[in-house]
Amino acid sequence: MNIADRTAPARAVTAQTADLTVVGGAGHVGVPLVLSFAAQGLTVNINDLNTASLDTLRSGRVPFIERGADVLLTKALADQRLFFTSKPSEISTKGPVIVTIGTPVDEFLNPVRRVIQDCVDPLLPHMRDGQLLILRSTLFPGTTDWIDAHIRRQGRDLKIAFCPERIVQGHGVEELSKMPQIVSGLTPDAEEEAAALFRSVAPELVILTPMEAEFAKLFNNAYRYIEFAITNQFYLIARSAGLDYGKILQGMKHNYPRAKGIPTPGFAAGPCLVKDTMQLLAFARNEFALGNAAIMVNEGLPLHIVSDLRRDFDLGSMTVGLLGMAFKAESDDPRASLSYKLKNALANHARAVLTTDPLVTNDPSLLPLDEVISRSDLLILCTPHRCYKDADLKGKPVVDIWGLLENANVVY
Ligand SMILES: NC(=O)c1ccc[n+]([C@@H]2O[C@H](COP(=O)([O-])OP(=O)(O)OC[C@H]3O[C@@H](n4cnc5c(N)ncnc54)[C@H](O)[C@@H]3O)[C@@H](O)[C@H]2O)c1
Repeated sequence: MNIADRTAPARAVTAQTADLTVVGGAGHVGVPLVLSFAAQGLTVNINDLNTASLDTLRSGRVPFIERGADVLLTKALADQRLFFTSKPSEISTKGPVIVTIGTPVDEFLNPVRRVIQDCVDPLLPHMRDGQLLILRSTLFPGTTDWIDAHIRRQGRDLKIAFCPERIVQGHGVEELSKMPQIVSGLTPDAEEEAAALFRSVAPELVILTPMEAEFAKLFNNAYRYIEFAITNQFYLIARSAGLDYGKILQGMKHNYPRAKGIPTPGFAAGPCLVKDTMQLLAFARNEFALGNAAIMVNEGLPLHIVSDLRRDFDLGSMTVGLLGMAFKAESDDPRASLSYKLKNALANHARAVLTTDPLVTNDPSLLPLDEVISRSDLLILCTPHRCYKDADLKGKPVVDIWGLLENANVVY
């Protein structure tokens, strides 16, 4: 692909001749990436199995909360820079194919490398030799080399690059233009072509080998996850001593630069941090003591809350209302949210558990906030959405581990 061509009128272009294809392009990583390239004048083939999300995008709506995406989507559609396809046979053969599909861990906490192979295999007959395949999903170390060997065994000769995504979900559009982009290629020409592409959206490139890049991404996420775990562990220790951790944390951080980055305690989960820590754990043959401990602490936090509440309240006679089911504040994404772990744990002990979230749209069991407040005997702030800060909780007792609520009847 010639980046210099990008101001050419998009009208003559088809899905098969778009400047690049993003496979998984309707997902949380795909959408901001697609829109960032389109904003630079590139034509993009959004290839995704999820036809409902493709239809939503085609109609000018973003399927989930992504700041700044609506404006870019409107412009990209008006400029006819986007193409929507759902079959491997419909990808473009002109430029790079970027893969941004999900990379889960299985029920034994092992990475499922097969999902990458299952995605790439059907693409191969529709790619030309010499075409660039950029893996952008978070990968178990060694996967880029492994997929290259797998492709070569079939007598195919693609250029392979690994360029991990490091955005914070919901802020991808904003961050892609500000954050350095890690680029790695299995050959110098793969690396150079991937670098040329990402130079069009990123302010700076960091060149690593694929294996280094795979680790860099996992280390970034595991480090963040451990940061949340340590503050959660401090919280539990302070609580067991009968102290207010929020007050201690404020004291620790006040004008003390080395403590500036300590996060507030709270639920730390979601689709990436815990899963990526597990990938490292699996790579290290379970000898990643800090990662292991972080999972125990973060995943254990809702269980500690339940056991403390069982001690302090007669839960069996109470209806408990959970405020916020998304995995983090101002997000509509409930994937791997600890709010659901808490809900399940409470269901064994409380008379009833009610849930609400103003942003999550795909959980039919959610109720309006007012109803949850009025029907509940005890509330738990699970996700610190801004809207809860000033909500009238009608004096109901509330659990607030985040320290968000100022004028509420906080009992824990
Ligand atoms: N969510 C984030 O903020 C974030 C940040 C950095 C990295 N990552 C990593 O990026 C990857 C994607 O995460 P996500 O949150 O965007 O997932 P997602 O589920 O939101 O999006 C994945 C998309 O891929 C599509 N898809 C799956 N298999 C496909 C196939 N064979 N062909 C075409 N489309 C297919 C799905 O329909 C979905 O739209 C994961 O590896 C994740 O760990 C995510």
